[in-house]
Amino acid sequence: MLFYYYGFPHQDIGPEQPIPFSHRVHAGTKQIACRFCHPFPDHGPRSGLPEMSKCFFCHDYVIPTHPEIMKEKQTLTTGMPILWKRVFYVPDYVQFNHQPHLRWAELACSECHGLVEAQDRLVRRQFKMGFCIDCHQQLGAQTDCWLACHH
Ligand code: HEC
Ligand code: HEC
Ligand code: HEC
Ligand code: HEC
Repeated sequence: MLFYYYGFPHQDIGPEQPIPFSHRVHAGTKQIACRFCHPFPDHGPRSGLPEMSKCFFCHDYVIPTHPEIMKEKQTLTTGMPILWKRVFYVPDYVQFNHQPHLRWAELACSECHGLVEAQDRLVRRQFKMGFCIDCHQQLGAQTDCWLACHH
Protein backbone atom coordinates (compact mmCIF):
# COMPACT_ATOMS: atom_id res chain seq x y z
CA MET A 1 0.00 0.00 0.00
CA LEU A 2 1.12 3.48 -0.82
CA PHE A 3 1.36 4.86 2.65
CA TYR A 4 4.15 2.46 3.57
CA TYR A 5 6.11 4.02 0.81
CA TYR A 6 5.74 7.42 2.42
CA GLY A 7 6.98 6.02 5.69
CA PHE A 8 4.36 6.93 8.21
CA PRO A 9 5.93 7.53 11.57
CA HIS A 10 5.55 4.49 13.77
CA GLN A 11 2.56 4.34 16.00
CA ASP A 12 3.73 6.72 18.64
CA ILE A 13 0.86 8.46 20.27
CA GLY A 14 -0.92 11.55 19.01
CA PRO A 15 -1.92 14.67 20.96
CA GLU A 16 -4.35 14.37 23.83
CA GLN A 17 -7.80 15.45 22.66
CA PRO A 18 -10.43 17.25 24.78
CA ILE A 19 -12.41 13.99 24.81
CA PRO A 20 -10.53 10.70 24.70
CA PHE A 21 -12.11 9.63 21.43
CA SER A 22 -10.62 6.43 20.04
CA HIS A 23 -10.59 5.52 16.36
CA ARG A 24 -9.34 2.07 17.32
CA VAL A 25 -12.53 1.43 19.32
CA HIS A 26 -14.96 3.02 16.84
CA ALA A 27 -13.49 2.37 13.39
CA GLY A 28 -11.47 -0.71 14.42
CA THR A 29 -13.24 -2.91 16.98
CA LYS A 30 -16.76 -1.63 16.28
CA GLN A 31 -16.17 -1.20 12.55
CA ILE A 32 -18.17 2.00 12.20
CA ALA A 33 -17.66 3.32 8.66
CA CYS A 34 -15.41 6.35 8.25
CA ARG A 35 -18.06 8.10 6.24
CA PHE A 36 -20.67 7.71 8.93
CA CYS A 37 -18.75 10.31 10.93
CA HIS A 38 -16.95 12.07 8.06
CA PRO A 39 -19.47 12.23 5.21
CA PHE A 40 -18.06 15.47 3.81
CA PRO A 41 -14.40 15.83 4.66
CA ASP A 42 -14.39 19.23 2.93
CA HIS A 43 -16.92 21.90 3.64
CA GLY A 44 -14.82 24.55 5.28
CA PRO A 45 -12.73 24.80 8.41
CA ARG A 46 -13.03 21.71 10.57
CA SER A 47 -16.46 20.85 9.27
CA GLY A 48 -15.08 17.50 8.19
CA LEU A 49 -15.36 16.52 11.83
CA PRO A 50 -18.61 15.15 13.26
CA GLU A 51 -20.99 17.30 15.31
CA MET A 52 -21.23 16.33 18.95
CA SER A 53 -24.88 15.46 18.46
CA LYS A 54 -23.81 12.63 16.19
CA CYS A 55 -22.08 10.89 19.06
CA PHE A 56 -25.46 10.59 20.78
CA PHE A 57 -27.02 8.65 17.93
CA CYS A 58 -25.32 5.86 19.77
CA HIS A 59 -24.33 7.10 23.17
CA ASP A 60 -27.84 7.85 24.35
CA TYR A 61 -28.04 4.03 24.35
CA VAL A 62 -24.45 2.77 24.39
CA ILE A 63 -22.60 3.21 27.72
CA PRO A 64 -24.64 6.36 28.54
CA THR A 65 -23.35 6.41 32.13
CA HIS A 66 -19.66 6.14 31.18
CA PRO A 67 -17.98 9.15 32.87
CA GLU A 68 -16.57 10.48 29.58
CA ILE A 69 -19.93 10.19 27.88
CA MET A 70 -21.65 12.01 30.73
CA LYS A 71 -19.04 14.75 30.49
CA GLU A 72 -19.72 14.95 26.77
CA LYS A 73 -23.45 15.17 27.26
CA GLN A 74 -22.90 18.10 29.55
CA THR A 75 -20.73 19.84 26.95
CA LEU A 76 -23.41 19.20 24.36
CA THR A 77 -26.07 20.89 26.48
CA THR A 78 -23.89 23.99 26.90
CA GLY A 79 -23.65 24.25 23.12
CA MET A 80 -19.88 24.77 23.31
CA PRO A 81 -18.04 23.34 20.32
CA ILE A 82 -15.33 20.78 20.99
CA LEU A 83 -11.95 22.13 19.96
CA TRP A 84 -10.39 19.00 18.56
CA LYS A 85 -6.69 19.37 17.96
CA ARG A 86 -5.73 19.18 14.32
CA VAL A 87 -3.77 16.10 13.40
CA PHE A 88 -3.27 16.10 9.64
CA TYR A 89 -2.44 19.31 7.91
CA VAL A 90 -0.80 20.87 4.88
CA PRO A 91 1.36 24.01 4.76
CA ASP A 92 -0.72 27.21 4.63
CA TYR A 93 0.01 27.90 0.98
CA VAL A 94 -1.34 24.55 -0.17
CA GLN A 95 -5.00 24.10 -0.81
CA PHE A 96 -6.16 20.53 -0.52
CA ASN A 97 -9.50 19.28 -1.66
CA HIS A 98 -10.71 15.74 -0.94
CA GLN A 99 -13.18 15.63 -3.76
CA PRO A 100 -10.99 14.71 -6.75
CA HIS A 101 -9.24 12.16 -4.58
CA LEU A 102 -12.34 10.44 -3.26
CA ARG A 103 -14.86 10.94 -6.00
CA TRP A 104 -12.72 10.60 -9.09
CA ALA A 105 -9.66 8.71 -8.00
CA GLU A 106 -11.47 6.61 -5.37
CA LEU A 107 -8.42 6.47 -3.15
CA ALA A 108 -8.79 4.75 0.20
CA CYS A 109 -8.56 6.98 3.26
CA SER A 110 -5.61 4.90 4.40
CA GLU A 111 -3.52 5.89 1.37
CA CYS A 112 -3.06 9.28 2.95
CA HIS A 113 -4.06 8.89 6.57
CA GLY A 114 -2.56 5.48 7.33
CA LEU A 115 -4.30 2.97 9.56
CA VAL A 116 -6.48 5.33 11.53
CA GLU A 117 -8.54 2.38 12.77
CA ALA A 118 -5.51 0.97 14.59
CA GLN A 119 -4.87 4.12 16.66
CA ASP A 120 -6.42 5.41 19.85
CA ARG A 121 -4.99 8.88 19.40
CA LEU A 122 -4.17 9.90 15.87
CA VAL A 123 -0.55 10.72 15.26
CA ARG A 124 0.24 14.17 13.98
CA ARG A 125 1.52 14.58 10.49
CA GLN A 126 2.17 17.43 8.11
CA PHE A 127 1.85 16.54 4.44
CA LYS A 128 4.80 17.99 2.57
CA MET A 129 4.65 18.86 -1.06
CA GLY A 130 6.70 15.81 -2.07
CA PHE A 131 3.94 13.61 -0.71
CA CYS A 132 1.46 15.11 -3.16
CA ILE A 133 3.81 15.15 -6.12
CA ASP A 134 5.17 11.63 -5.68
CA CYS A 135 1.75 10.10 -5.74
CA HIS A 136 0.62 12.25 -8.64
CA GLN A 137 3.61 11.07 -10.64
CA GLN A 138 3.16 7.47 -9.62
CA LEU A 139 -0.53 7.39 -10.54
CA GLY A 140 -0.16 9.58 -13.59
CA ALA A 141 -2.27 12.39 -12.12
CA GLN A 142 -1.61 15.94 -13.18
CA THR A 143 1.61 17.46 -11.86
CA ASP A 144 1.40 20.73 -13.74
CA CYS A 145 -1.62 21.34 -11.56
CA TRP A 146 0.94 22.35 -9.05
CA LEU A 147 0.38 26.04 -9.54
CA ALA A 148 -3.34 25.50 -9.25
CA CYS A 149 -2.81 23.77 -5.93
CA HIS A 150 -1.42 26.95 -4.44
CA HIS A 151 -3.34 30.04 -3.47
C1 HEC B 1 -17.68 7.51 15.50
C2 HEC B 1 -17.17 8.60 14.70
C3 HEC B 1 -15.93 8.43 13.87
C4 HEC B 1 -15.59 7.40 13.02
C5 HEC B 1 -16.35 6.11 12.73
C6 HEC B 1 -14.35 7.79 12.39
N1 HEC B 1 -13.95 9.00 12.86
FE1 HEC B 1 -12.34 10.08 12.25
N2 HEC B 1 -12.67 11.47 13.69
C7 HEC B 1 -13.74 11.46 14.56
C8 HEC B 1 -13.55 12.51 15.58
C9 HEC B 1 -14.47 12.83 16.74
C10 HEC B 1 -12.32 13.15 15.24
C11 HEC B 1 -11.64 14.31 16.00
C12 HEC B 1 -10.83 13.75 17.15
C13 HEC B 1 -9.54 13.09 16.70
O1 HEC B 1 -8.77 13.68 15.96
O2 HEC B 1 -9.32 11.92 17.11
C14 HEC B 1 -11.81 12.49 14.05
C15 HEC B 1 -10.66 12.84 13.38
C16 HEC B 1 -10.23 12.25 12.19
C17 HEC B 1 -9.11 12.70 11.40
C18 HEC B 1 -8.16 13.79 11.77
C19 HEC B 1 -8.61 15.19 11.36
C20 HEC B 1 -7.53 16.17 11.72
O3 HEC B 1 -7.59 16.72 12.81
O4 HEC B 1 -6.63 16.37 10.92
C21 HEC B 1 -9.00 11.87 10.32
C22 HEC B 1 -7.99 11.94 9.20
C23 HEC B 1 -10.04 10.89 10.44
N3 HEC B 1 -10.77 11.15 11.59
C24 HEC B 1 -10.22 9.84 9.55
C25 HEC B 1 -11.06 8.76 9.79
C26 HEC B 1 -11.04 7.54 9.03
C27 HEC B 1 -10.12 7.27 7.84
C28 HEC B 1 -11.99 6.73 9.57
C29 HEC B 1 -12.33 5.30 9.17
C30 HEC B 1 -11.21 4.35 9.17
C31 HEC B 1 -12.62 7.46 10.66
N4 HEC B 1 -12.00 8.67 10.78
C32 HEC B 1 -13.68 7.00 11.44
C33 HEC B 1 -14.83 10.61 14.51
C34 HEC B 1 -14.87 9.43 13.77
C1 HEC C 1 -5.06 12.05 -1.28
C2 HEC C 1 -4.90 12.09 0.14
C3 HEC C 1 -6.10 11.95 1.05
C4 HEC C 1 -7.11 10.99 1.02
C5 HEC C 1 -7.26 9.83 0.06
C6 HEC C 1 -7.98 11.29 2.14
N1 HEC C 1 -7.53 12.40 2.81
FE1 HEC C 1 -8.37 13.27 4.46
N2 HEC C 1 -6.98 14.76 4.43
C7 HEC C 1 -5.93 14.84 3.53
C8 HEC C 1 -5.18 16.07 3.78
C9 HEC C 1 -3.97 16.54 2.99
C10 HEC C 1 -5.83 16.72 4.87
C11 HEC C 1 -5.45 18.05 5.52
C12 HEC C 1 -6.17 19.15 4.77
C13 HEC C 1 -5.90 20.52 5.31
O1 HEC C 1 -5.06 20.70 6.21
O2 HEC C 1 -6.54 21.47 4.80
C14 HEC C 1 -6.96 15.86 5.26
C15 HEC C 1 -7.85 16.15 6.29
C16 HEC C 1 -8.89 15.31 6.69
C17 HEC C 1 -9.83 15.58 7.77
C18 HEC C 1 -9.87 16.84 8.62
C19 HEC C 1 -10.91 17.76 7.98
C20 HEC C 1 -11.22 18.97 8.79
O3 HEC C 1 -12.38 19.45 8.66
O4 HEC C 1 -10.35 19.47 9.51
C21 HEC C 1 -10.69 14.52 7.86
C22 HEC C 1 -11.84 14.33 8.82
C23 HEC C 1 -10.29 13.58 6.81
N3 HEC C 1 -9.20 14.10 6.13
C24 HEC C 1 -10.93 12.38 6.60
C25 HEC C 1 -10.72 11.58 5.48
C26 HEC C 1 -11.52 10.40 5.18
C27 HEC C 1 -12.66 9.87 6.03
C28 HEC C 1 -11.01 9.87 4.01
C29 HEC C 1 -11.54 8.70 3.23
C30 HEC C 1 -13.00 8.71 2.94
C31 HEC C 1 -9.90 10.73 3.59
N4 HEC C 1 -9.77 11.75 4.50
C32 HEC C 1 -9.11 10.53 2.47
C33 HEC C 1 -5.62 13.92 2.55
C34 HEC C 1 -6.38 12.83 2.18
C1 HEC D 1 -22.36 4.31 15.59
C2 HEC D 1 -22.29 4.30 17.04
C3 HEC D 1 -21.31 5.24 17.75
C4 HEC D 1 -21.09 6.56 17.50
C5 HEC D 1 -21.69 7.45 16.45
C6 HEC D 1 -20.12 7.00 18.49
N1 HEC D 1 -19.78 5.96 19.32
FE1 HEC D 1 -18.52 6.07 20.90
N2 HEC D 1 -18.71 4.04 21.18
C7 HEC D 1 -19.56 3.22 20.47
C8 HEC D 1 -19.41 1.86 20.94
C9 HEC D 1 -20.17 0.64 20.41
C10 HEC D 1 -18.46 1.90 21.98
C11 HEC D 1 -17.93 0.75 22.82
C12 HEC D 1 -18.83 0.58 23.99
C13 HEC D 1 -18.38 -0.54 24.89
O1 HEC D 1 -17.19 -0.60 25.18
O2 HEC D 1 -19.24 -1.32 25.25
C14 HEC D 1 -18.05 3.30 22.12
C15 HEC D 1 -17.17 3.77 23.08
C16 HEC D 1 -16.90 5.12 23.34
C17 HEC D 1 -16.14 5.64 24.45
C18 HEC D 1 -15.50 4.81 25.54
C19 HEC D 1 -14.19 4.31 24.95
C20 HEC D 1 -13.42 3.41 25.83
O3 HEC D 1 -12.21 3.52 25.76
O4 HEC D 1 -14.02 2.59 26.53
C21 HEC D 1 -16.09 7.01 24.32
C22 HEC D 1 -15.39 8.01 25.23
C23 HEC D 1 -16.80 7.34 23.10
N3 HEC D 1 -17.30 6.16 22.55
C24 HEC D 1 -16.93 8.61 22.60
C25 HEC D 1 -17.58 8.93 21.40
C26 HEC D 1 -17.61 10.25 20.80
C27 HEC D 1 -16.90 11.48 21.36
C28 HEC D 1 -18.36 10.15 19.69
C29 HEC D 1 -18.69 11.23 18.69
C30 HEC D 1 -17.58 11.89 18.04
C31 HEC D 1 -18.80 8.77 19.57
N4 HEC D 1 -18.31 8.06 20.62
C32 HEC D 1 -19.62 8.28 18.58
C33 HEC D 1 -20.42 3.60 19.45
C34 HEC D 1 -20.49 4.86 18.90
C1 HEC E 1 -2.16 8.76 -2.85
C2 HEC E 1 -2.12 9.54 -4.06
C3 HEC E 1 -2.32 11.05 -4.03
C4 HEC E 1 -1.89 11.92 -3.08
C5 HEC E 1 -1.07 11.63 -1.84
C6 HEC E 1 -2.33 13.23 -3.49
N1 HEC E 1 -3.03 13.15 -4.65
FE1 HEC E 1 -3.93 14.73 -5.63
N2 HEC E 1 -4.72 13.40 -6.97
C7 HEC E 1 -4.42 12.05 -7.03
C8 HEC E 1 -5.09 11.49 -8.21
C9 HEC E 1 -5.02 10.04 -8.67
C10 HEC E 1 -5.77 12.56 -8.84
C11 HEC E 1 -6.52 12.54 -10.15
C12 HEC E 1 -8.00 12.40 -10.01
C13 HEC E 1 -8.56 12.28 -11.42
O1 HEC E 1 -8.50 13.28 -12.16
O2 HEC E 1 -9.02 11.20 -11.76
C14 HEC E 1 -5.53 13.75 -8.02
C15 HEC E 1 -6.05 15.01 -8.29
C16 HEC E 1 -5.68 16.18 -7.66
C17 HEC E 1 -6.12 17.51 -8.01
C18 HEC E 1 -7.07 17.85 -9.15
C19 HEC E 1 -6.28 17.99 -10.39
C20 HEC E 1 -7.20 18.16 -11.54
O3 HEC E 1 -7.12 17.33 -12.46
O4 HEC E 1 -7.99 19.09 -11.53
C21 HEC E 1 -5.50 18.41 -7.18
C22 HEC E 1 -5.62 19.92 -7.18
C23 HEC E 1 -4.69 17.62 -6.27
N3 HEC E 1 -4.83 16.28 -6.56
C24 HEC E 1 -3.91 18.15 -5.27
C25 HEC E 1 -3.22 17.39 -4.31
C26 HEC E 1 -2.49 17.94 -3.17
C27 HEC E 1 -2.36 19.43 -2.85
C28 HEC E 1 -1.99 16.88 -2.49
C29 HEC E 1 -1.14 16.87 -1.24
C30 HEC E 1 -1.64 17.55 -0.04
C31 HEC E 1 -2.39 15.67 -3.20
N4 HEC E 1 -3.13 16.02 -4.29
C32 HEC E 1 -2.06 14.38 -2.78
C33 HEC E 1 -3.67 11.33 -6.17
C34 HEC E 1 -3.05 11.83 -5.02
